[in-house]
Amino acid sequence: MPLGIISIRTDPALASVEALRDRTVAVIGFGNQGAAHAANLRDSGVAVVVANRCDSPNGRRAIAAGFELLDIPAAVRLADLVILALPDEVQPEVYAGAIEPALKPGAIIGFTHGFAIRYGLIRPRGGLGVVLVAPKGPGATLRELYLRGRGLPCLFAVHQPSDRTDAERIGLAWAAGIGCARSGIVATTFADETETDLFGEQSVLCGGMQALMLAAFEVLVETGYDPALAYIECCHEIKQVADLLYARGPAGMNAAISNTAEFGAMDAGARLIDSGVRERMRAILADVRSGAFASRLRQDALAGFPSLTLRRHAMSHHPIEAASETVRSLMPWLGSSGNTPDSPPSP
Ligand SMILES: NC(=O)c1ccc[n+]([C@@H]2O[C@H](COP(=O)([O-])OP(=O)(O)OC[C@H]3O[C@@H](n4cnc5c(N)ncnc54)[C@H](OP(=O)(O)O)[C@@H]3O)[C@@H](O)[C@H]2O)c1
Repeated sequence: MPLGIISIRTDPALASVEALRDRTVAVIGFGNQGAAHAANLRDSGVAVVVANRCDSPNGRRAIAAGFELLDIPAAVRLADLVILALPDEVQPEVYAGAIEPALKPGAIIGFTHGFAIRYGLIRPRGGLGVVLVAPKGPGATLRELYLRGRGLPCLFAVHQPSDRTDAERIGLAWAAGIGCARSGIVATTFADETETDLFGEQSVLCGGMQALMLAAFEVLVETGYDPALAYIECCHEIKQVADLLYARGPAGMNAAISNTAEFGAMDAGARLIDSGVRERMRAILADVRSGAFASRLRQDALAGFPSLTLRRHAMSHHPIEAASETVRSLMPWLGSSGNTPDSPPSP
């Protein structure tokens, strides 16, 4: 499906929500992603129903946002497009038990991450459409940008066509309806989205960066520096640098920092990230591509996440947390979403 990059500026007919106008979308799960997809689609004029428990924080949030909550089969029975916004580890069982039996013939199943399809944990029956719209960012940002008339880019793929509906057009309308066509819809495959997403979050965004930050914090503190100072230098300032990188790219970021910082970065970066690190990155990618990571995650999830719980506990007791609280308390305007509101409250 060689779509290239579609955007409202270059392909207004393709990047339009029109194909969903006379249809119903069921959003299953009202967490990070589900809440943003449901609200953005509704604000784009699409009929949306939501399935979530009523008595959980997310369920109460959905009710407060004006959605009437249905049980999963009831929502699925109404829908032409069913968006699975459930955690990856629970999708296979919920799909088999509550979703597939209730799907209309030719309905389209929408994923926001390709995990369950890439690793064969869900194998939808023939005739059902299967599409992917993976916004490249958290749900809170997807919603926030939508409300500001902007949009996150997303990755887009069709795994299987529907025998009744044009799955590609419905999928593109979904991407447009949540605001992604205002930036760009990038065509890919379920496999490439899943493998690059897992590799990126493990080696850089969440794994590599966090390990780098903790190691640097520990080196400063063991040498006798104040933990708050170590936190400011190795963690707090990541946001300032990341914002520059996000808006201007690597060369633009380098142009915006001092010559001292730029010279030091070139000098130290190459010594730190040597061939050994690259070799371990290749091993992480191989682990993702072989399915070994997915299988470890699944085992831990099926056992109630004993390994994740242990590591979470250790992380939450790391001395960096106390330093983090001290530094963050200096900025009471920080939003809980992690985004700094445009205007801090007046003193
Ligand atoms: N988070 C991101 O930034 C991001 C970005 C792109 C794609 N994605 C993908 O989006 C999907 C959803 O992730 P998320 O982070 O949005 O999840 P999440 O915030 O953890 O939300 C999950 C939702 O599913 C419900 N749920 C959990 N277990 C359930 C079960 N056993 N039966 C029925 N409902 C259940 C939860 O309801 P309760 O609250 O009532 O428990 C909650 O509303 C995943 O495929 C993920 O990979 C996430």
